[in-house]
Amino acid sequence: MRKIELSKRLKSFPPYLFAEIDRQKEILKKKKIDFVDVSIGDPDVPAPQAVIEALYRAAKLKDNQKYALDQGKALFRKSIQRWFKKRFSVSLDENKHILPLIGSKEGLIHFPLAFVNSSDYIIVPSPAYPGYKSAARFVSARIYELPLLEKNSFLPELSKIPQRVKNKAKLIYLNYPNNPTTAVAPLSFLKEAVSFCSKYGIILAYDNAYSEIYFSQKPHSILEVKGAEEIAIEFHSLSKTFCMTGFRVGWACGNSDLIRALLKVKSNIDSGLFGAIQEAAALALDRQEKYVVGLRKIIKERRDLFVAGLKNIGFKNIHSDSTFYVWMRIPKGFKSSIDYSKYLISEKNIVATPGLGFGKYAEGFIRFALTVDKKKLAEVLKKLNG
Ligand SMILES: Cc1ncc(COP(=O)(O)O)c(C=O)c1O
Repeated sequence: MRKIELSKRLKSFPPYLFAEIDRQKEILKKKKIDFVDVSIGDPDVPAPQAVIEALYRAAKLKDNQKYALDQGKALFRKSIQRWFKKRFSVSLDENKHILPLIGSKEGLIHFPLAFVNSSDYIIVPSPAYPGYKSAARFVSARIYELPLLEKNSFLPELSKIPQRVKNKAKLIYLNYPNNPTTAVAPLSFLKEAVSFCSKYGIILAYDNAYSEIYFSQKPHSILEVKGAEEIAIEFHSLSKTFCMTGFRVGWACGNSDLIRALLKVKSNIDSGLFGAIQEAAALALDRQEKYVVGLRKIIKERRDLFVAGLKNIGFKNIHSDSTFYVWMRIPKGFKSSIDYSKYLISEKNIVATPGLGFGKYAEGFIRFALTVDKKKLAEVLKKLNG
């Protein structure tokens, strides 16, 4: 039989970086060795009970058992509109500016299909959520890795992007609160980003998945910035805010042409978001403000305990300003983040994420997720100190 070849597109995806870590995890499991997994950004806290009940009720309705209309339910879009107005003082038209998504990843990755050709650049921060690079590879775009350096508080220097890239860039992804560096962007940077994109005619895709997971500096929406309505689309998620990762629900909002184009892509790919999930998500946005306050408190307590513990042990360059991650420079003596993470698994029975998985400028760092309870985090500290 003729060999079935992968497409050039799929071949351009790098080998699965975490395969070796997964293999080592399997070895620990087989040997029945107890290990702590702080590698995954999937919260251990249950979703709000009222949301689960709303989902159950709504699933029984006949209307929700049919294909969902492509732009989503008006009820959900109106909840998003109210939530956005209250949270960011930004007024959105629920018919023109809002599009429900099957999780924000789905929208972030499908978005370039609407605008980007293979000769175009997509500017991707480094480190960054790996989805942006995948999105660029799916449309065979050229990728420019924009460094987010520790010495610049993990904000990019837009003025240093080469002219050839600026001229051929169609899209830039930015993400604050940032995974994995945990940096929060001040409004002054968001203004700079909007004027940069306006000047060069670059679409700004702003990933705000962690907008509610902060400790002191309250994150902004890019849509608060004057001029952003011309060039920006912002992505939100209920995954982190309400611990609803498995529900797969989020939304895109912003410029009406960008929203319409994403809807055109999506209506050729999916058939909408389960109506019952939209109803449950609407209830979360309308009535679960207290839940989010409680979640922030839980994450902050974990963060305070874990960061203080790391400092006591003697680790340096520890960052945890938002999200539920701790981003830390690997100790001296280790060749790479992969090396250090292998050492943590085999010698300390701790699974953490090596920086390299987030881009070349992430080398030399490791990410811990605060998605286990304080007892487990204390255990990690004890192992690290042992
Ligand atoms: C920065 C960032 N954006 C987007 C996502 C995707 O979230 P979801 O598809 O669950 O909404 C994640 C998930 O970890 C993330 O870290």
